[in-house]
This record gives sequence, structure tokens and C-alpha cells, in this order.
Amino acid sequence: MRQAGRYLDSYKKVRSHFSSFIEFCLTPKAATEVTLQPVKQFDFDAAILFADILLVPYAMGQKIKFISGEGPFLEPLPSLDTISLSITPIKAVFETLRSVKNELAPDKALIGFSGGLWTVACYMMNGKGGTFEGALEKLRKDRVFVKELFDRLSIITRDYLLAQIQAGADVIQIFDSHAGLLKGDDFQEFVIEPTKRLVGSIKEQYPSIPFIGFPRGASLEEYKTYAQLTGIDALSLDQNIDRSAIKRVCPNMILQGNLDPEILVQGGKILKDEIDAIKQDFGGGYIFNLGHGVLPQTPPEHVADLVRWVRS
Ligand code: CP3
Repeated sequence: MRQAGRYLDSYKKVRSHFSSFIEFCLTPKAATEVTLQPVKQFDFDAAILFADILLVPYAMGQKIKFISGEGPFLEPLPSLDTISLSITPIKAVFETLRSVKNELAPDKALIGFSGGLWTVACYMMNGKGGTFEGALEKLRKDRVFVKELFDRLSIITRDYLLAQIQAGADVIQIFDSHAGLLKGDDFQEFVIEPTKRLVGSIKEQYPSIPFIGFPRGASLEEYKTYAQLTGIDALSLDQNIDRSAIKRVCPNMILQGNLDPEILVQGGKILKDEIDAIKQDFGGGYIFNLGHGVLPQTPPEHVADLVRWVRS
């Protein structure tokens, strides 16, 4: 959950050497450094690869710009016939993984990741973040197109994740950050089914690689079906999910996440009380994490407090 990022001066310093965020992601030396920074500073148990879910559309030939303070902007999608399915343009990521793995203590896990197909398709069809009205309209008007886009995304995402595992990722997280935009049959068809196929196609080759799934914004019922049907090993929770309810409907699932990033910004007693409440509600089989990315205004001291309090 954005361990690296704009709340850390050490990150901002490296970031300032690059005008292009994509170029930054594709420079193994810099990406290795910022992957390891938060692990060294806070002694987290795992490092998450520094990259972005939007490297996949970039590899497919869709041009992307990250504008500071505004987020990503993508040029109109190239025609499906000309879309590339090769991961070669983003192969620098695998070098980053190998070099992180080399430097990481053996008791720390290395997390590789991709976006969920729906979330990546959302950016590709919408061109930018926000309410994703453009992506939802495309889904209403041209389902055939969306399915054809998904066919392509499933091939490249599978190859991308397989190569991440070959390069040293110990676990894979799937960020379906905009899963909550879909309901009912759409959620089934464009979140659950593609995730199930993706996880299955990778476990065919790497049966023991653990997957963490993050269907952010899904309802309790949808989280439950996602956990039951996709083949994931651990479920990452956003901050809006009811803790005792999710524990009740997914009694055998490893859970992670849920701390509201705003509470980490506030820090102090509010943070400590919330950590206690999370511990109380989840008990064992739980991996401490946030419900979404660390906000840029988060004081790094609060992150250090958090790690100390959780460990104690
Ligand atoms: O913790 C890490 O540093 C791991 C690397 C990582 C990044 N993005 C780096 C990043 C991961 C796992 C992601 C995932 C990602 N990227 C998601 C899924 C998780 C989520 O946040 O919901 C999404 C939706 C994206 C797309 C994306 N990338 C957006 C919308 C933005 C701009 C707004 C924002 O939150 O910063 C980014 C930029 C981005 N990706 C930054 C970082 C560190 C900030 C870039 C900067 O300005 O320096």
C-alpha cells in the first residue's frame, strides 16, 4: 500500500531526478533504491516492488503521462489489432526484482503485483482517474470490445506476473482498486472471472505462489464471493469493510489491510486505539496493513509509531 511515495523525503529526492514517472519505474537502480527505502526505515516485514499497475498499458503501446498532483493521463487506446502483448518494453522491472531480492534480508518477503484486469482496463478506456464514467459507458455500449480488451490484458498480465515470479517475487498482489464500480453480474464477469483465470493460469506453473487479492470498494457479499471463487490465498481489505462481518463471512481466509489511511495521518491516541480495535476484531490469521495507499501528508513518525505499536 504505497510504502514508497510522496510521504517520504528520501523517495521525493530520488523522484526529483526524473521528469517521467514511467522512466523512473523502468530504471532498476532507482526503483531498487525506493523499493528498499521504507523497509530499511521502518523495518516492514515485506518489500513491495516499486512499479505501477499502468506499466501494462504502457507495454501495450498506450502512451501515459503522470502529472504531479493530478495523477495519470493516458492517450486514446490504440486499436485492439495493433496492441502489443509483449512485456519486453517493461523488462527493466524484472531486473529491479532481481536486484531487490539480492539486497533484501532473507526473512523479508518480496511482493510483486499487477492491477486487476478491470482496474487496468478502466484507466485504458477512461484515459484518466476520477469517476471512470468513460469506462462505464464503454461497458454499457460495447461489451464485446471490453471482452476483447480483457482477452489481451489477461495474456500480458499473466506473462508479466510469471516473469515477476521468475525474477524473485515471493507473493503476488492484485490491485483491483476500482472493483467497487461494478455490481452484480458485471462484478462476476469482469472482476471475479478474470481474476480466477489469472490466478489459475499462474498457479498451473507455480502452484505454491501465494496471491493477495484487493477488490477495493466491493460490498461484503462481493468480498465473500471474490474470496471463495478466485483462488486467492489472502484477502486485502479497504477501510470501509465491516471487520466483524468480514471475519464472519470469510472465517478461513487470511485477511490483511483495513486501517484507514486518514487515521495514520492523525496519529497519536486515535491511531493507537484503532490498532487495538483491529487486533481485537481480527485476532490471528491477519496481516497488518492499510486499507489503501499511504497519503502524501502522512508524517513518517506516525508510520514508525504504527510499526512499534503493532509489534508490541
Ligand atoms: O508502495 C509502493 O511504492 C509500491 C509501488 C506502487 C505504486 N503504485 C507506485 C506509485 C504500487 C503497488 C502502485 C499501484 C497502483 N498504481 C494502483 C493500485 C493501488 C491503489 O492505489 O489503488 C493504482 C490505482 C495506480 C495508478 C496510479 N499511480 C495513480 C492513480 C497514481 C497517482 C496518484 C497517486 O496515488 O499517487 C499513481 C502514481 C504513483 N504510483 C506514485 C507511486 C509512489 C506517486 C508518484 C509520484 O508522484 O511520485
